[in-house]
Amino acid sequence: MKTIIQKIDATNMASSDFKEAAELLRAGKLVAFPTETVYGLGGNAYDSTASARIYAAKGRPSDNPLIVHISCFDELPPLVSVIPDEAKALADRFWPGPLTMIMNKSDIIPKETTGGLDTVAIRMPSHPIANRLIKEAGIPIAAPSANASGRPSTTKAEHVIEDLDGKIDMIIDGGSSDIGLESTIVDLTVKPALILRPGYITIEMLREVIPDIEYDKAVLKRIKDDTIVAKAPGMKYRHYAPKGELTIFEGDAKAVSSHIYNEAKEKLESGYTVGILTSDELAKSYESLATEKANAVNPKLYIKDIGSRKNEAEIAAGLFDALRYFDEIGAEYIYAEAFSEGGIGQAIMNRLMKAAGYHIVKV
Ligand code: TXA
Ligand code: MG
Repeated sequence: MKTIIQKIDATNMASSDFKEAAELLRAGKLVAFPTETVYGLGGNAYDSTASARIYAAKGRPSDNPLIVHISCFDELPPLVSVIPDEAKALADRFWPGPLTMIMNKSDIIPKETTGGLDTVAIRMPSHPIANRLIKEAGIPIAAPSANASGRPSTTKAEHVIEDLDGKIDMIIDGGSSDIGLESTIVDLTVKPALILRPGYITIEMLREVIPDIEYDKAVLKRIKDDTIVAKAPGMKYRHYAPKGELTIFEGDAKAVSSHIYNEAKEKLESGYTVGILTSDELAKSYESLATEKANAVNPKLYIKDIGSRKNEAEIAAGLFDALRYFDEIGAEYIYAEAFSEGGIGQAIMNRLMKAAGYHIVKV
């Protein structure tokens, strides 16, 4: 299949830019599009054939439900059996935006879209291209992250092309996703409400609306423990994993950098290609191993500095890009510092620990 690449400028767009994409979606075809979190792989949420195509294109297990995207609150009532008061309050505060809410589904949503569940995940993205696309298509859009199953989510059209070119009908290139981590997911079908996946909307922000909201146990787990089963089916799969072996070091900054330094040095001496995922604060510690990227000092060492530890939003935005970069350069061993777990840090560490298969070393 030839994948059409369509560039759209979010600051200067017209209805005509969306004509072909909207037609494809209405015909049950697949269109990847940018959202403020990550790129989504969209299909008609009412069409079980479109859902099946999404699973096939991603190589995703079909028991892993899709998020249904809407463009305004009026599109919600037909999709769910009841709208809980908590959903209205959260929507008032956080929609459009990076928050997904799980509610009991209505009959109009086929089970293929929800991986066989009686509940449905709904999100109203704030990205102008995503919002306009849903409106122009005139149907709710089922969309998982637009990556091949198991790989890091995509934050740029180039990443989507890497994973899905030739497998889907169109990719809308609308530049980089600002947030870079997938939406926060809350389950409103249980009491108290639960956070199934942490994201840019933090527990502190959610508690201003739902004071007793808690994390699902699986979110807080720090070790590989198969007895803790995630409530979001997708959270149980191996995710985001780079091809190389990723280890996270946690502890005092000096101890972390010296452990990473020594581990990297040892692996480099044995001839391996090594990646270091670091921050502005610790990047300097590795200067004597290399300066930046592969270089004359050590051609097999690649250092990726994703920003200041003080700026969590910047770290979040660069994380998936960095994991893809290490695959590109063929890193066999990757070392990362742990980030703090307050605020968005909870989401950053959740993704990083999954990517590392919970391989975290305390120093
Ligand atoms: O930011 C996002 O949420 C992005 C953009 C494209 O909107 N989408 C995204 O979708 O991350 P996906 O499919 O990669 O992740 C959806 C997660 C999965 O872990 C899935 O198991 C969970 O949401 N989920 C979906 N429906 C659910 C349901 N009814 N009950 C529990 N978990 C559900
Ligand atoms: Mg995903």
